[in-house]
Amino acid sequence: MSRFKHAPCSLLLLVLCTLGTAFAQALPAARQAALANVGRSATPAEIKAWDIDVRPDFKGLPKGQGSVRQGEVLWEAQCASCHGSFAESSEVFTPIAGGTTAQDIKSGRVDGLMPGANQPNRTTLMKVSTLSTLWDYINRAMPWTAPKTLTADEVYAATAYILFLGNVLPEDFTLSDANIREVQARLPNRNGMTTAHAMWPGKELGGTAKPDVQGSNCMANCKTEAVVKSFLPDYARNAHGNLAEQSRLVGESRGIDTTRPPLAAGAKSGAVVAQAERVTAAPEKAAAAAPAVAVKTVAPGAASVMPLLQKNSCVACHGMDSKLVGPSFKDIANKYKDRADAVNYLSGKIKAGGQGVWGAIPMPAQALSAAESAQISQWLAQGAAK
Ligand code: HEC
Ligand code: HEC
Repeated sequence: MSRFKHAPCSLLLLVLCTLGTAFAQALPAARQAALANVGRSATPAEIKAWDIDVRPDFKGLPKGQGSVRQGEVLWEAQCASCHGSFAESSEVFTPIAGGTTAQDIKSGRVDGLMPGANQPNRTTLMKVSTLSTLWDYINRAMPWTAPKTLTADEVYAATAYILFLGNVLPEDFTLSDANIREVQARLPNRNGMTTAHAMWPGKELGGTAKPDVQGSNCMANCKTEAVVKSFLPDYARNAHGNLAEQSRLVGESRGIDTTRPPLAAGAKSGAVVAQAERVTAAPEKAAAAAPAVAVKTVAPGAASVMPLLQKNSCVACHGMDSKLVGPSFKDIANKYKDRADAVNYLSGKIKAGGQGVWGAIPMPAQALSAAESAQISQWLAQGAAK
């Protein structure tokens, strides 16, 4: 916080600033004196780089423009692999476009969100009520693996293309800072914002409603693990038919195959499912694949490869234990633990990328050196220890 101690507390930084001030007051005087020369004021350029938010009234929106057609080219190159060519995919995230109608554009309220609507899947365009949010989000967070790499004009183009896919804009439209307010007036759910759930505005802005959640910090004897207390009983698993054969109204959201028994905890990814199925089908083979008798060397921990995984953005798509865009490192390590040429195979795959081993989402080729790729593969082949 010390870097920002002289910066004015803007609304967004209010909470942080308040905490920082309270913290500073709580420090004993001697420590405060020792810290007096630590840090420096943020420069105007630093504040400018930090202060990128675009507000609902478009305050903060950079000048620029981008057409639907430019957006299509950009979308195919940088967005479609995760969101689908028509922003309809639910493979990586819920669909972005779909579920809105010409009537919604007229009324500013999406029918599919109304009570009783037969719409199980909610898309971004159904929910968003401020166009600034869509622009701002793409500008700060997308593409997921390389955030903040788009120019302002490219963000306009991507936003325009998404709106075209939702039939909000015609295909010859060019979105710009000059006409964005007119487009806001066509946003399907522009009148859908409510503060009736009492989260905002809070008392500091003159609101009177209390938040709808209350919590307190646990300070002693806190539980460290969540325990699942309710679960679907086996007899109910197939109660609504096979979920894998059913699809949502927008985007494809395949459920699990409920005609088969559930997997053991931890087995999550498609490939692990396939493995488990093979094991169920041929138990004698599973027995044959006996675990390695002794570990020869101490496996390297994640600390040895973490800088590489971060530098190359691997962690944007791979979690240690959890599936993100790609499989978890733990699952990869498990899959190849008995393969003799695992290091070679994985090094090659990391550099070349690939598709179809774990699912339909492709892994792009990675621009890292052969040595780096081999080092990561070594760690994976030895169990991906933390
Ligand atoms: C590597 C996969 C990936 C790529 C490529 C990608 N996205 Fe995303 N996108 C995501 C994920 C994952 C989320 C959800 C992130 C979250 O909620 O934390 C998301 C969320 C979004 C959202 C917000 C949806 C919502 O309702 O909150 C928008 C809009 C979006 N992406 C647009 C884009 C655009 C435009 C591009 C190309 C410039 C792009 N994305 C490229 C993975 C990707
Ligand atoms: C844009 C997202 C993305 C990034 C970035 C990414 N991966 Fe992947 N990775 C995937 C996906 C998706 C798969 C599954 C591909 C498949 O099904 O064949 C995968 C698969 C893998 C596999 C298993 C290959 C196989 O044949 O089983 C390894 C190993 C791997 N990634 C390592 C890495 C490393 C190391 C990096 C960083 C240098 C990295 N990945 C960066 C998405 C990504």
